[in-house]
Amino acid sequence: MEKITDFKVDENLRHIAFIMDGNGRWAKQRGLDRPEGHKVGVKVFERVANTCFDWGVEAVTFYAFSTENWKRPPAEVKTIMSLLSFYIDKCGDDLIKRGVRFRMLGDKSALDAGLRKRIDSIEQRSKHFNKTLNVAINYGGRDEIIHACRLLAQSGEEINSESFSRALYTEDCIDPDLVIRTAGEKRLSNFLLWQASYAELYFTDVLWPDFSDDDLKNAINDFYSRRRRYGGL
Ligand code: IPE
Ligand code: IPE
Ligand code: MG
Repeated sequence: MEKITDFKVDENLRHIAFIMDGNGRWAKQRGLDRPEGHKVGVKVFERVANTCFDWGVEAVTFYAFSTENWKRPPAEVKTIMSLLSFYIDKCGDDLIKRGVRFRMLGDKSALDAGLRKRIDSIEQRSKHFNKTLNVAINYGGRDEIIHACRLLAQSGEEINSESFSRALYTEDCIDPDLVIRTAGEKRLSNFLLWQASYAELYFTDVLWPDFSDDDLKNAINDFYSRRRRYGGL
């Protein structure tokens, strides 16, 4: 797959969020089991994250496992969790070398205690960096909103747009400017419901394991052809 090195974004595009969909269909098309699609999907996620940072994007968010994905067969859930766990084990040094802050978005309480500890450790080690990689695991937009409401109710803090944003899993992260969903479905599937309120949405039929630098560049060029009005004229 060709790497594009001579492309840059500007300050209008600071945060891109990805709904990585289509791993299962990709595998099926090749007569492979669904886990094979997820394995390639993780590699593509790592490459796309690095490409975004190389092109000057400040923050990227990847939807890896939703609160609804527990409905899948246990074997598939297990595969996805072990792939994520494997990624968490190996990503730390590389993220630190690249100056990237890692943050997990989602409810950690359902994760295996060992994995939770390793995630906490990378979050701590990387928290002073400016570039951000958010990975949404056991994440649901509704769950996140309820979680934020509980935090604010417990703390007694005044509820306003700023305090509410800070109580979300994304904390102080800027809102996404662009949300890209692969594999043809045109829905958010419970992703970043609050944060994406004014994001530009881009849908492509390309399946996630096939998503290339060229596909990313097309999505970004499409973003630059839009006019964001935010309710104004
Ligand atoms: C996205 O691919 C990965 C996760 C949701 C974990 P899918 O597994 O949803 O792939 P399709 O949509 O079945 O092709
Ligand atoms: C959304 O994909 C969740 C992730 C990409 C992690 P799904 O495949 O779970 O979404 P639906 O079921 O098509 O809405
Ligand atoms: Mg899917």
